[in-house]
Amino acid sequence: MAAPAPERLLILGGTAEGRALAAAAEARFGRLLTVISALAGRTRTPVLPAGCVRIGGFGGAAGLAAYLREDGIGLLIDATHPFATRISAHACEAAARTGTPHLALVRPPWRLAPGDRWIDAATTADAAAAIPAGAGRVFLTVGARALAPFAGRDDLWFLVRLVDPPAAPIPLARHRLICARGPFAEEDERALLRDHRIDCVVTRASGGAATAAKLAAARALGLPVVMVRRPPAPPGERAASIEDALAWIERHLEAH
Ligand SMILES: NC(=O)c1ccc[n+]([C@@H]2O[C@H](COP(=O)([O-])OP(=O)(O)OC[C@H]3O[C@@H](n4cnc5c(N)ncnc54)[C@H](OP(=O)(O)O)[C@@H]3O)[C@@H](O)[C@H]2O)c1
Repeated sequence: MAAPAPERLLILGGTAEGRALAAAAEARFGRLLTVISALAGRTRTPVLPAGCVRIGGFGGAAGLAAYLREDGIGLLIDATHPFATRISAHACEAAARTGTPHLALVRPPWRLAPGDRWIDAATTADAAAAIPAGAGRVFLTVGARALAPFAGRDDLWFLVRLVDPPAAPIPLARHRLICARGPFAEEDERALLRDHRIDCVVTRASGGAATAAKLAAARALGLPVVMVRRPPAPPGERAASIEDALAWIERHLEAH
């Protein structure tokens, strides 16, 4: 008798967790599972995950639902960035429309440690207003599409860090741009903050190990961190770790 066709897993990725999950699923489930990772195609030279890779959008929730059907996807894991809210909403909707089992791999948020001086901000606009008086030099790591709210702060100088050079000019009167991709080491982050005489860090509550070193560096230097709150996680089943996501896959493969 012929072996059953492998189950097809689509991972919505673009994150270190998405890559780690693709590699672990390939290694653990071997021929039982075909792993396909989808990337939006935002970064110029993406680090490609193990398994098959698909680059580019699907065309909204309807397009993703059509892809799930046409490609025979049996399992869908949303491992996108916590601030990538549109694709996560589309994943929920497409999974519901097609009856595809769906899991969100949501990285744990960063936790406040002794010595941290975090200032909570509901939005990037609130973050721009929350930069403490007297902090003239700001390290800004909120992503290229969230810079506009800081344009009004021409009283400040910004060190802007992005993964890739931005497509549009940076809308800040006084700034320096650096392009770099994590993971970053605490020692390097401390040196960066010191060398640029940074007074305050502004970031989003992304969580994850790759970019956490700037928080430890700010703590060590006694700097305030304005932290833009995370949007709510997508509804439905969630896992907080690669191991939990693998257990979810295993349960579905056993039931298959
Ligand atoms: N937002 C961040 O700060 C951030 C940080 C690090 C990495 N990323 C990664 O970068 C990607 C884009 O993030 P975003 O904030 O621009 O997303 P978004 O605003 O939630 O999504 C915008 C559109 O991009 C397409 N898209 C997003 N993620 C995709 C994926 N993994 N595969 C295929 N298409 C995808 C979808 O297009 P269609 O409607 O045409 O399907 C989606 O409607 C995500 O994969 C995310 O994990 C984002």
